[in-house]
Amino acid sequence: MLPTLYEYYTSGGIKTGLSANGLCFTLNEKIITIYSGAMHYFRVHPDYWRDRLRKIRAAGLNTVETYVPWNLHEPIPGVYDFGNGDSDFEQFLDIEKFIKIAQDEDLFVIVRPGPYICAEWEFGGLPSWLLRNQKMNIRTSDEAFMNYVSAYFSKLFEILSKLQFTKGGSIIAFQIENEYGNTKKKDKPIDTDYLIQLKNIFTKNGLVELFFTSDTPSNGNFGSLPDVLNTANFQSDPEKELSLLQSYQPEKPLMVMEYWTGWFDHWAEQHHKRCNKEFSDVLERILKFPASVNMYMFHGGTNWGLLNGANIEGSSVDNGGYQPDTSSYDYDAPLNEAGDYTEKYFSVQRLIKHYNPVLTALPVLPELIERDTYNEVEITEELVFDDILKNEDFYIESQELLPMELLPITYDMGQSYGYIVYRRRNLNIPANSVLNIRGRVCDTVIVLINGKVVSKALETPEDLEGFGYWKVKDSSLEMSNEDCENATLDLVVENWGRVNYGKLDQFLQYKGIWQGHVSLNDRFLLDWEILPLDFKKSWTNSLTGWQLPRFHLGPALYKGTLKVFKRKDTYIDMRGWTKGIVIVNGFILSRYLKLGPQQAVYLPAAFLKEGDNEIVIFEHFAPDNHISFVKDQIYSSVA
Ligand code: GLA
Repeated sequence: MLPTLYEYYTSGGIKTGLSANGLCFTLNEKIITIYSGAMHYFRVHPDYWRDRLRKIRAAGLNTVETYVPWNLHEPIPGVYDFGNGDSDFEQFLDIEKFIKIAQDEDLFVIVRPGPYICAEWEFGGLPSWLLRNQKMNIRTSDEAFMNYVSAYFSKLFEILSKLQFTKGGSIIAFQIENEYGNTKKKDKPIDTDYLIQLKNIFTKNGLVELFFTSDTPSNGNFGSLPDVLNTANFQSDPEKELSLLQSYQPEKPLMVMEYWTGWFDHWAEQHHKRCNKEFSDVLERILKFPASVNMYMFHGGTNWGLLNGANIEGSSVDNGGYQPDTSSYDYDAPLNEAGDYTEKYFSVQRLIKHYNPVLTALPVLPELIERDTYNEVEITEELVFDDILKNEDFYIESQELLPMELLPITYDMGQSYGYIVYRRRNLNIPANSVLNIRGRVCDTVIVLINGKVVSKALETPEDLEGFGYWKVKDSSLEMSNEDCENATLDLVVENWGRVNYGKLDQFLQYKGIWQGHVSLNDRFLLDWEILPLDFKKSWTNSLTGWQLPRFHLGPALYKGTLKVFKRKDTYIDMRGWTKGIVIVNGFILSRYLKLGPQQAVYLPAAFLKEGDNEIVIFEHFAPDNHISFVKDQIYSSVA
């Protein structure tokens, strides 16, 4: 009988944790090569944590790696949610449970707590309320920023410190920051003091396992500290990257902290695929080198809710080159979004079996979780936009337009996610008027007059280049040839996810309309009512005013009832809809967009109950009259 991983590495008692003091890693004084896979607990429904972890172990891996999203764990400064904080994400946030299940499934754990995590996650995991202080420099040793970080880390590490390997738990290593070397500017060194302070916070809060940083070696040797292990992030050229890493720290074992198995997608761009041959060839060369490896992602999962990140293309220094990420974070990883095995999975299994000299007991391959379709659901109710706003009895009166982050709401911490509506009442709009928005909208805007949409509905990728989207600076909209007196003008603005990589701190990531004035025929419009619309679960579940559907063009909520006799995983086919969000039993599951590449929304059985389930869709433009289901994700090809 083969020993379990824990039996093998802890027999005779636990004396030391993971050590990088020689050319090989040792764990409790036994040589170890780390075969790790990334899976983020907040991207997988907790009912499936065990299933995915067992599949990771069954591939022969000995470690699972996760980031920790600060924005979910501290939604309001000083208000924490680690699985019991009553936020809409509560069920995803019991990190202690996740780490304990990993141990139960015979895996070690690597934790990357940030504070910045990148990860295609909203603002790289930083809470949006940090943006309220414009003087504060995020990701630096700025005292104001460090005070927030220390407060949060002391709560997080209270939990994690008990789960360390040398305390009988499973965590073998912690990462400091994330690719901090990328913050290097031409004429300025990086803020090493920031890394040192983070390290001190780790230590002060009882973290004793191995600390490391990660960067791409060919970008230079900037992001690390002398006494902290440096690891590598890359997708190709393993010999070059690993040799460079070796030259930076000749006496240390080598580890690839992010070997990119596939890649993520932006909306309205092509779906990324990376063929198994190339993937497994590079993996084999990493193992042969030899080096330890963490496959990023091994199982990508889903950007639930409104929490996808975004990139900024090229040289743009405002949000002109904005590229939001899709809700699916499938990543073309060895385990796909729904937890199915792919070709890559079996290549990993074969390669690790071949290269790993340490034989331990592995679980049998878990069976796949059943996935099926449900009968079509008819849309039976609609809440037109005006009636949605009647449910929002709270609004802010403001002379000027404000971004959502600066609204005096939520204990004065602003609005983090979702939509913001700027309403101007009693407006006389003469025929052929021109509405002008100075600056850029962040990120999209729909214009309504007396509840009717007057801006163009999204149909083609070219529409993204026109009025209503971030790509146009100083945009104008020509109104109809009819006079309109005493009108109500609504500007419905969507936060499509904050940038998580690169120019994070080079421009303000505020969402809404705030860069300049809105004018009608060259006259500034003032005196707005501002309404936050973030679709919190309790709010959505208590909406009133539903009526029989009329399916007009323009933003509205549509509801249907899914009757479930036997719960099973499925995908919602969104091809009949245009753009918006899908809400299931009050929880925002996902965004969708006709332009793709993602066309379906993963709906695990765990979000459903036997009996009646409410599916609510917030559609921006043209709705369908029913909701249908498919078994698998659908990708459209984007021109
Ligand atoms: C970097 C980051 C990760 C992730 C990948 C791309 O390496 O460290 O968080 O963003 O890029 O998926």
